[in-house]
Amino acid sequence: MSEVTSDVTTQRVLTDEMVAAIKAFFPRYPTRQAVTLPALHVVNERLRYVPLQAVVEIAELLELAPAQVQDTLTFYGMFKQDAPHGQTRAWVCRSMSCMLLGANELLDHICHKTGTRPGETTADGSTTIEFAECLGACEFAPCILANKTLHKCVTSHQADQLLNEWKTKPAP
Ligand code: FES
Repeated sequence: MSEVTSDVTTQRVLTDEMVAAIKAFFPRYPTRQAVTLPALHVVNERLRYVPLQAVVEIAELLELAPAQVQDTLTFYGMFKQDAPHGQTRAWVCRSMSCMLLGANELLDHICHKTGTRPGETTADGSTTIEFAECLGACEFAPCILANKTLHKCVTSHQADQLLNEWKTKPAP
């Protein structure tokens, strides 16, 4: 289990812009604790992960114990903590409808093509391949969500095109 402590010798990771973005949520929520999830998103959107030092700094801002922030972080599956995810994060649905229409084979194909396993990032850092549970578009199975776009009825050929697109036109 990781120890979450404050260490004054550790370099700070929250920039002034991140701190301002987090503070901008304060008037919109009844308590500072309620800002925990938005604060995690602020950091994740900018760093593509939430390192432990960011957890400590968010806790300071929200006047919480670091463990409270860490609890929220680990409750949700979308935050990485060890290293940034790829420029694109591709969520391949593996729930029932998608599975019945070839999601497992699609995921195998993508992993084979990219030399990754689910949860890993391609060597060039362009794409992280993830499992997703139902993306709410079962009639268009199998689906992939990436860069806020839902790709429907994805074939292996289309997946190859998407991988190439994510490689050559990385998300901002
Ligand atoms: S099962 Fe894949 S979108 Fe619902």
